Amino acid sequence: MTLELSYHDQQRNAKGLTGGTDIIHKESIRGSKLLGVSDERAETPNESMLHYLHESESASFIQFAEPIRHPTGGNRLKSTEYTFLKACWCKPTDYVPVWLMRQAGRYLKQYRNVRAQGGGTFLDLCKDPARAAEVTIQPIDILNADAAILFSDILTPIEPMGMALDFMPGPVFEKPIRTAADVDALIVPEDMAQAVSYVPAISKRLRAVFEGRVPLIGFGGAPFTLACYMVEGKGSKNFAELKKMMYGDFKLYDALMQKVTEMDRRYLNMQIEAGVQAIQIFDTWGGLLAPHDFERCILPYVKQLIGGLDRKDIPIIYFCKGGGGMLELVKEAGADVLGLDWHVNLGKARDILGPDIAVQGNLDPTVLYASKDYIEHEVQRILDENVGRPGFIFNLGHGILPTVPPENAIHMVECVHRLSRN
Ligand code: CP3
Repeated sequence: MTLELSYHDQQRNAKGLTGGTDIIHKESIRGSKLLGVSDERAETPNESMLHYLHESESASFIQFAEPIRHPTGGNRLKSTEYTFLKACWCKPTDYVPVWLMRQAGRYLKQYRNVRAQGGGTFLDLCKDPARAAEVTIQPIDILNADAAILFSDILTPIEPMGMALDFMPGPVFEKPIRTAADVDALIVPEDMAQAVSYVPAISKRLRAVFEGRVPLIGFGGAPFTLACYMVEGKGSKNFAELKKMMYGDFKLYDALMQKVTEMDRRYLNMQIEAGVQAIQIFDTWGGLLAPHDFERCILPYVKQLIGGLDRKDIPIIYFCKGGGGMLELVKEAGADVLGLDWHVNLGKARDILGPDIAVQGNLDPTVLYASKDYIEHEVQRILDENVGRPGFIFNLGHGILPTVPPENAIHMVECVHRLSRN
């Protein structure tokens, strides 16, 4: 495989990129260091081109990624009026905005390539602002999504609390929290910008790239979902260790949740400070509790978290998977947008929630294994459930699965844009 590269020498500014082009073999860029990514609008509106700025021993050079053509060319124009943000605030939009939870990830070969660069781990990728920024950009170009989500993981801010973390590929904490001494030993870093300095670094890089094109979503795990992993030490079907603590020693559970909530509050405020334009709080395991337990053991901490954010004009999205059977309670969290999974009919959910809150969701992620026609049919069904109601953001009901064919995800986004334009 060959790539077209445009060289410039080390002394020249990155803007003076008019040096001669050349064709070189991919091998010769191996071992080079990715310095950054810039996004320059291509000549035609439905084409975009990323410039990957590399540095090798001999020279700095720009790698022109293959131009990616979009069927609609829809939202390529510069605008400061982001459709996604308008929908978050329940304002009317020209079309329904769409992004996908976990849109940067293994289903994209471009992600797997960047992930493999340097042979590092997933955490190394999270901590490398240039590569993390690159994988954040990929789904914007490839899928034509209306919002970008900063690349990281919900568990990365737990590391500076003093818990060694690994991904294999699921998360594993070497020493899970089980006792009062374990909770006491947890650190709540004063300065999250310093504790996870790669996060604001990625945010700043991305804001520069995306300005006028798509807004940047920052995120964190909800306190309960973070505590699930901290106490279990790894993924689980029912997170019985945390539930044992919750039912058996509520004081200890509360002490843990207070520390996690405060860390989370500082972490999300730090992201707002670093320029993110929306925040999503992932409560992947919130639906593990019965409604009365949700009210007692999850809701107070989520309320405290959201209430403690320096929101400015930043919309807060609360995604509580499995929350469809307790919508009134989930609404009490105080978010501007609720993320919903596919176990609810959005029309019925919105009848319960009322017009003052936006919703996001909720295609079953496995529908992306179906035929193009079936995907279109399902997109239309979900759009119909929201017809005449502003404040809708199309998304999956949970993260995209690693074996989904990317062309089906591209098709889904295209269907949402085409079918929702009136
Ligand atoms: O594109 C994006 O959405 C941004 C990146 C992102 C990741 N994780 C990257 C990731 C986001 C928003 C998350 C959130 C996350 N992480 C959640 C909440 C959302 C959800 O899916 O429920 C949870 C529970 C985690 C914890 C986690 N991280 C698990 C369970 C796993 C392993 C299994 C899996 O889903 O991949 C991870 C690893 C992880 N996080 C990967 C990615 C791209 C795969 C790692 C790899 O590249 O090897």
